[in-house]
Amino acid sequence: TSAQIGVTGLAVMGRNLARNFARNGYTVALHNRTSAKTRALVEEFGDEGDFIATESAEEFVAALERPRRLVVMVKAGEATDAVIKEFAPLMEPGDMIIDGGNAHFADTRRRERELREQDIHFVGTGVSGGEEGALNGPSIMPGGSPESYASLGPMLEKISAKAEDGAPCVTHVGADGAGHFVKMVHNGIEYADMQLIAEAYQLLREVAGYSPAQIADIFRTWNTGRLDSYLIEITAEVLKHVDAATGKPFVDVVQDQAEQKGTGRWTVQIALDLGVPVSGIAEAVFARSLSGHSELRAASQGLPGPTAQQLSEAEAGAFADQVEQALYASKIVSYTQGFHEIAAGSEEYGWDIDLGAVAAIWRGGCIIRAAFLDRIRAAYDTRADLPSLLSDKTFAQEIGAAQDDWRAVLVAATRQGVPTPGFSAALAYYDALRADRLPAALTQGQRDYFGAHTYRRTDREGSFHTLWGGDRSEVGA
Ligand code: 6PG
Repeated sequence: TSAQIGVTGLAVMGRNLARNFARNGYTVALHNRTSAKTRALVEEFGDEGDFIATESAEEFVAALERPRRLVVMVKAGEATDAVIKEFAPLMEPGDMIIDGGNAHFADTRRRERELREQDIHFVGTGVSGGEEGALNGPSIMPGGSPESYASLGPMLEKISAKAEDGAPCVTHVGADGAGHFVKMVHNGIEYADMQLIAEAYQLLREVAGYSPAQIADIFRTWNTGRLDSYLIEITAEVLKHVDAATGKPFVDVVQDQAEQKGTGRWTVQIALDLGVPVSGIAEAVFARSLSGHSELRAASQGLPGPTAQQLSEAEAGAFADQVEQALYASKIVSYTQGFHEIAAGSEEYGWDIDLGAVAAIWRGGCIIRAAFLDRIRAAYDTRADLPSLLSDKTFAQEIGAAQDDWRAVLVAATRQGVPTPGFSAALAYYDALRADRLPAALTQGQRDYFGAHTYRRTDREGSFHTLWGGDRSEVGA
């Protein structure tokens, strides 16, 4: 017998993905650099389906039916190139190499181009949902050629998460690096969502005076409404958790320094290159890096500022409602920015990405899964060329209804000295977009003054320069 799919790299994500394929009736060839892991998988989970354990690259490739579908689940970066170098020479035209790691889409584009010369399809594939998702159904974002999707798609549809309406959370995102690009932005949005939730927590704790357990209850209530999402759900779990060793809330015994593996940073780096304002995502990345600067933070301990004054019980309840509004409005802005980046990437690289389809496959399986995403899907289904999510009537109406509370929360945060970079950046973005006139006109004046960089006028075509050092008359440029 031969295997319909092979998985190399059997750390937890690879192992769970292999089991997911097997549980869905596929014969799965297994390979790992050290074969002890391969044997362990078969020993522990061999009864879940048909596995073919292999010990060498040659044996692994030979175990796959043609065209071969070889899934690589190794650490993104050099390890991926090493695996490709090992397997590509053993493969034949029409075969597929599927990279399910968090690769940078530029690497994926390069690998796709290189392997195409050998007629091998390289399918850079975003996979979201963590360990649990890999096993029970992730959200899957494959790029690569349409031919590869024709062969691979049905299998991915089978192992993927299903949205509430039963639709599989996978779609062919676009050519070459499109899948990894979309996964990157997914992670950027994930960072922003997490930061906004963290700010809501901090406000409820320091301004409203609630305990972590009380805040967990508030999040649980929010999770029954429009904020219904995986991240809100697990936040309540984390906040409820009590440390066994000290009896304190778990959140109080964890060091307040957030780490990151890089996908959020990439989202911001690429947005800078594309000229897309993703201020909410950027603030989330910066908030993590600021938290990690322990010496800087220690050196800043004496700086003056207000101490948060806690609200009365009645006031606290009303404030919590306002925080919900601020969180929801800021979330709309994060997604607006993230989808703008996907649209810009799609344009730049000619991917023709269907934004509604992206929202649809994020409804289940992935870390940012949420009821909200079905509404984004609906917005793009109504109008595929929506200039921005904020131009959707429903979202515009909701953010309009939330804005008074959103502003009130930021007034309280500012007065009391609680940092809210995510909420604040989101509101600034909203107000800047709404503004009839921006001070960018003054910026242009300054640029023209010191560097003769020229400006355009509101009333006439063309570029102009004012002779600032002379008689200040205007000349055409
Ligand atoms: C997912 C996650 C996953 C990973 C994050 C964590 O979609 O399943 O996003 O890819 O857990 O990359 O990122 P950080 O370590 O950078 O927080």
